[in-house]
Amino acid sequence: MPALPLLIDTDTGSDDAVALLLATASGLGDVRAVTTVAGNVPLETGTRNALISLQTAGRRDIPVHPGCHRPMVRTLSSAQHVHGQDGMGDIGLPDPVAAPHDTHAVEVLLSLPRLYPDELTLVTLAPLTNIAAALLRDPSLLSRFRHVYCMAGAADFAGNVSPTAEFNVWADPEAARVVAQAATPDKVTWIGWDVSRRDAVMTPADQQRLERIGTPMATFAHRINRVVADWARDVTGLAGYDLPDPIAMAVALRPGLVVEREQVHVDIALDAQTRGQMIIDRRLTAPPPNLTLVRRVDETGFKNLLFDTVSNAVTL
Ligand code: BDR
Ligand code: CA
Repeated sequence: MPALPLLIDTDTGSDDAVALLLATASGLGDVRAVTTVAGNVPLETGTRNALISLQTAGRRDIPVHPGCHRPMVRTLSSAQHVHGQDGMGDIGLPDPVAAPHDTHAVEVLLSLPRLYPDELTLVTLAPLTNIAAALLRDPSLLSRFRHVYCMAGAADFAGNVSPTAEFNVWADPEAARVVAQAATPDKVTWIGWDVSRRDAVMTPADQQRLERIGTPMATFAHRINRVVADWARDVTGLAGYDLPDPIAMAVALRPGLVVEREQVHVDIALDAQTRGQMIIDRRLTAPPPNLTLVRRVDETGFKNLLFDTVSNAVTL
């Protein structure tokens, strides 16, 4: 199978970094550009982390384009308490060799799909600010992609940043709403935190396996998730840290990993108490579906893809 042409939008923290390894080192993706946005960490820090991650995968040639430095209308509330001050577990990673590209992320999101209509798959791993900004200038943007996969939302209403909301949607709910309102279920798929906490939890045994693999990529993936592991123990109470962005990337790279999906109409709550919560209308009288939601993924298949990738041993 030819590698999938990809455009990736990320607020690179420790799980985005692992998703970038999957996209670049599994042999399944052909990453044309990476765009960055404020989210887990401020824009400059996330951009630095994207460059470090690509360098770890041996792909310093992939351009990284910084984008919006704050949500559409709200102030930035980062997740540095989740991923570390530097977003990468505060393990003292050295500066990357490559520098960010001058062209703004939104310009890239507008121009690349026009150059390559129906060819690129967009994977978003972050608040949807860049995508919404691009959509305001080109309302048909989403239809120009082959498909758009977003790590976004919590379709079971169990949140990680509030009782009912997932971070990427909560951080910029107005942007998430712009994207949801422009979406159609044949083109746009959301993979939410409900999937991650069920099918992408790295148990102590999984973490040991990553450590034992011992390649530079495996060691990197293991060490940068140090702070998230503490947060998972203390806050989410999962049996290990989870990998939301990597499982979303895995779905884009290998759609056959999806076990369960549904097409529904989704809106996003904006008021103070329910900020960022998905409003899913499953009534017979609901408006037509705007999104495909992935609800379950093959956990073993996902983890094998991850282990194979960081071992440099993926078979296509
Ligand atoms: C999402 O929020 C961030 O903390 C992660 O990188 C992921 O994109 C999970 O809710
Ligand atoms: Ca992210």
